[in-house]
Amino acid sequence: MITVSLTHFLLLCLVVAAAAAASNNITTDQQALLALKDHITYDPTNLFAHNWTSNTSVCTWIGITCDVNSHRVTALDISQFNIQGTIPPQLGNLSSLTTLNLSRNKLSGSIPPSIYSMHTLKFLDFTDNLLSGSLSSSVFNMSSILDIRLTNNRLSGELPKNICNYLPYLKALFLDKNMLHGKIPSALSNCKQLQQLHLQFNNLSGAIPKEIGNLTMLKWIDLGYNKLHGEIPHEIANLRNLEALVLGMNNLVGVLPATIFNMSTLKVVILINNSLFGSLPSRIDLSLPTIEHLNLALNRFSGTIPSSITNASKLTALELGGNTFSGFIPNTIGNLRNLEWLNLANNSLTSSTSKLSFLSSLANCKKLRVIGLTGNPLDGFLPSSIGNLSVSLEILFIANCSISGNIPQSISNLSNLMILALEGNKLTGPIPITFGRLQKLQGLHLQINKLVGSFPDELCHLGRLAELALLDNRLSGSIPSCVSNLTSLRSLYLGSNKFTSVIPSTFWSLKDILFFDFSSNFLVGPLSLDIGNLKVLLGISLSKNNLSGDIPATIGGLKDLQFMDLAYNRLEDPIPESFGDLTSLEFLNLSNNKISGSIPTSMEKLFYLRELNLSFNKLEGEIPSGGIFANFTAESFMGNELLCGLPNLHVQPCKVSKPRTEHKSRKNILLIVIVLPLSIALTIAITLALKSKLIECGKRSTVLSNDSVLSSQATLRRFSYLELLQATDNFAENNIIGRGGFGSVYGARLEDGMKTQKFLSFIPRAPSVLCFLFPHTNSKKKLE
Ligand SMILES: *[C@@H]1O[C@H](CO)[C@@H](O)[C@H](O)[C@H]1NC(C)=O
Ligand SMILES: *[C@@H]1O[C@H](CO)[C@@H](O)[C@H](O)[C@H]1NC(C)=O
Ligand SMILES: *[C@@H]1O[C@H](CO)[C@@H](O)[C@H](O)[C@H]1NC(C)=O
Ligand SMILES: *[C@@H]1O[C@H](CO)[C@@H](O)[C@H](O)[C@H]1NC(C)=O
Ligand SMILES: *[C@@H]1O[C@H](CO)[C@@H](O)[C@H](O)[C@H]1NC(C)=O
Ligand SMILES: *[C@@H]1O[C@H](CO)[C@@H](O)[C@H](O)[C@H]1NC(C)=O
Ligand SMILES: *[C@@H]1O[C@H](CO)[C@@H](O)[C@H](O)[C@H]1NC(C)=O
Ligand SMILES: *[C@@H]1O[C@H](CO)[C@@H](O)[C@H](O)[C@H]1NC(C)=O
Ligand SMILES: *[C@@H]1O[C@H](CO)[C@@H](O)[C@H](O)[C@H]1NC(C)=O
Ligand SMILES: *[C@@H]1O[C@H](CO)[C@@H](O)[C@H](O)[C@H]1NC(C)=O
Ligand SMILES: *[C@@H]1O[C@H](CO)[C@@H](O)[C@H](O)[C@H]1NC(C)=O
Ligand SMILES: *[C@@H]1O[C@H](CO)[C@@H](O)[C@H](O)[C@H]1NC(C)=O
Repeated sequence: MITVSLTHFLLLCLVVAAAAAASNNITTDQQALLALKDHITYDPTNLFAHNWTSNTSVCTWIGITCDVNSHRVTALDISQFNIQGTIPPQLGNLSSLTTLNLSRNKLSGSIPPSIYSMHTLKFLDFTDNLLSGSLSSSVFNMSSILDIRLTNNRLSGELPKNICNYLPYLKALFLDKNMLHGKIPSALSNCKQLQQLHLQFNNLSGAIPKEIGNLTMLKWIDLGYNKLHGEIPHEIANLRNLEALVLGMNNLVGVLPATIFNMSTLKVVILINNSLFGSLPSRIDLSLPTIEHLNLALNRFSGTIPSSITNASKLTALELGGNTFSGFIPNTIGNLRNLEWLNLANNSLTSSTSKLSFLSSLANCKKLRVIGLTGNPLDGFLPSSIGNLSVSLEILFIANCSISGNIPQSISNLSNLMILALEGNKLTGPIPITFGRLQKLQGLHLQINKLVGSFPDELCHLGRLAELALLDNRLSGSIPSCVSNLTSLRSLYLGSNKFTSVIPSTFWSLKDILFFDFSSNFLVGPLSLDIGNLKVLLGISLSKNNLSGDIPATIGGLKDLQFMDLAYNRLEDPIPESFGDLTSLEFLNLSNNKISGSIPTSMEKLFYLRELNLSFNKLEGEIPSGGIFANFTAESFMGNELLCGLPNLHVQPCKVSKPRTEHKSRKNILLIVIVLPLSIALTIAITLALKSKLIECGKRSTVLSNDSVLSSQATLRRFSYLELLQATDNFAENNIIGRGGFGSVYGARLEDGMKTQKFLSFIPRAPSVLCFLFPHTNSKKKLE
């Protein structure tokens, strides 16, 4: 009996198999794949031409896997072949396919609807292509699919409301880095098996649907970098398996539901840059026992940092910058032995002792790479135990913290330091000569302190230093000639000190320098002809020194120069004709010198020049009236008795040589009557705008307020660290620090910015809020 029925059953199976073969067999598969081959327009490895040939079995083709029994194609994986082309609808005929992986190619066009109804497919991966088209009316009807990955394409439209109606087994949905807009459909909750939801880097708006709380299998939610509004639904706290909640860079508001801090499975919480408030629970260690990354930066969280946080022993990144946390930084913070990233910048945190004992405690954290304390009223002294911090430390920011006393030499033990920012404190004493040991240093920010002594020669050992800011201290002596050893230098700020003597001739060999500011010192001597060697220079400030001699004509070779301030010196002789070649110039101040001769008409071509100040010199002759000169007012030229020109410039009229000119100037007078009030209004508006910026930026700008244009330039064009990171697309993998990537990225961005952003920053500023955006955690694990 048993034998008979078994035979019967086998027969039945054969019949079914035969029936399937009749409609779809390996021939259909081959046709589908040949259709794909036909749609490939560029194939750098010649995979298709040489391997996918119709006289061989499809099952031997590269990227194809067949089932040994059914002899049908079950997997098509041609990822990372860099192929260009489109996806043909025939691919949907691969009716035994379980894996379709076309990721990391350059496929374009839209995804044919036939793909979305492949009922055997379990894994679909089109990550990193150029696929476009709207998803709005797509019907996802894939009864076996577990995993859909469409990350980093150009898909647009809205998420279909019924996206989950026919995806009963879906575990992972990756639609991040596309151009989707509209709301997150509440019917997403029909994907009951969903474990991973990645919609970050789109333009999604509206509120997070509360139904998300029904997806009880969810482990990872990433909705960061969208335009989501409203409050975080408290239903999220129902997700008892949730490990990562990433909602940063949205417009979420309201109190963070307290229950969220009670999800014992959470490892990653990233809420950066929303408008959330609330405080941390006093027993955060019990509420979030497994927390690894906590990023609440740039919100409105308040209250104290509970000392219980130091029991959250898995914490590797704690980022609370830009909130209003207050109270003491726990002295036991060093118990967090796994901590790699600690940023508490821009809060109202203090230390329980003036020796900053919490800092000494951090010496226990052997993996620390980043410490950010900038912008907290710490009001103490740097302990010499700061040198016991982990040698792995790469970034140390203690700027604007009301720190007094000397800079401990022991900081030089931190041999992996890349950026040290101690700006805006009350530091006294000299720059430790031992800093010369910080061989990996790329940024040293000591500006706006009360440091004395000289520019130590030892600093010249810092071969990787890209930005050196000693601005606004009490440093004296000469600028050492070994400064030319700093061959990586891009910006050098020595202004507002007491430096004397001549600019060393070696300085002009720093060919890659972008900015230098030596203003408000006691420098003497002429400007070297070699200034023309600094070919990539964007900004020079040498104002308020005692420089003499002429302005070298070689300056005209600085094609990228946007900012030049040589005011308040003793420069003489005419403005070189070559100034007409400074085609990028936006700001020029030569006032209060002894410059003579006439204003070169070649300067009429300086199309980008917005501000010109030639006042209080010994210029003579006719003020050019063509080109950009039409926009300048009397202020630009006052205090030059021998200049002549149009009446609105409050100078004497020029002696008319040809009657024709008289005719022309009358026309100008007419014009001016109309133009003048307008341009005055404009000037006032601009000045007001600058003023308000200045006020916003408080202290830092008032430091340079006697040179307000310089400071306003800087405040307007300042360029945040975050922008830097974003622009380099470097936040995700966070290799800004480590792997030596930082230096080159920084440099690259600056060069790039030169073209696109014009002016970047003229006042150095180390970043104060560093944003640990997305953790480098393996979310891409294939699900089975
Ligand atoms: C596939 O099916 C077609 C009919 O649909 C048939 O003509 C062909 O011989 C079959 N090929 C194989 C390899 O079974
Ligand atoms: C195609 O590539 C596969 C794998 O490298 C190889 O086994 C097969 O022989 C190739 N076929 C042809 C026709 O070159
Ligand atoms: C298959 O055809 C290609 C041309 O399309 C030819 O170059 C190749 O030698 C053939 N291979 C076999 C195994 O017949
Ligand atoms: C697709 O292939 C890439 C390798 O190029 C791999 O990283 C990825 O995990 C594959 N996708 C799936 C869903 O297996
Ligand atoms: C394959 O798919 C295309 C378009 O989806 C369809 O028109 C065609 O009939 C199918 N071919 C076979 C052999 O099933
Ligand atoms: C989904 O696919 C099944 C099987 O092909 C089909 O019967 C059903 O009509 C499809 N549903 C939708 C909404 O397209
Ligand atoms: C988001 O929308 C804005 C304007 O609505 C658009 O400029 C921007 O490019 C969009 N971004 C993405 C990633 O689609
Ligand atoms: C889904 O969530 C809503 C709101 O949270 C709730 O009212 C509803 O009962 C849930 N549905 C299911 C099927 O769990
Ligand atoms: C957190 O969980 C504990 C234990 O489950 C419970 O007693 C407490 O009320 C919860 N707190 C909040 C704010 O939900
Ligand atoms: C925070 O978000 C606002 C818009 O909501 C944006 O303007 C701002 O640049 C963001 N800040 C950072 C540091 O990304
Ligand atoms: C600067 O570099 C030169 C040549 O490499 C070297 O001789 C000199 O000692 C260096 N000076 C300092 C202070 O590092
Ligand atoms: C004068 O200024 C106006 C407004 O800033 C600007 O649009 C125009 O291009 C300027 N003219 C010249 C010749 O630069």
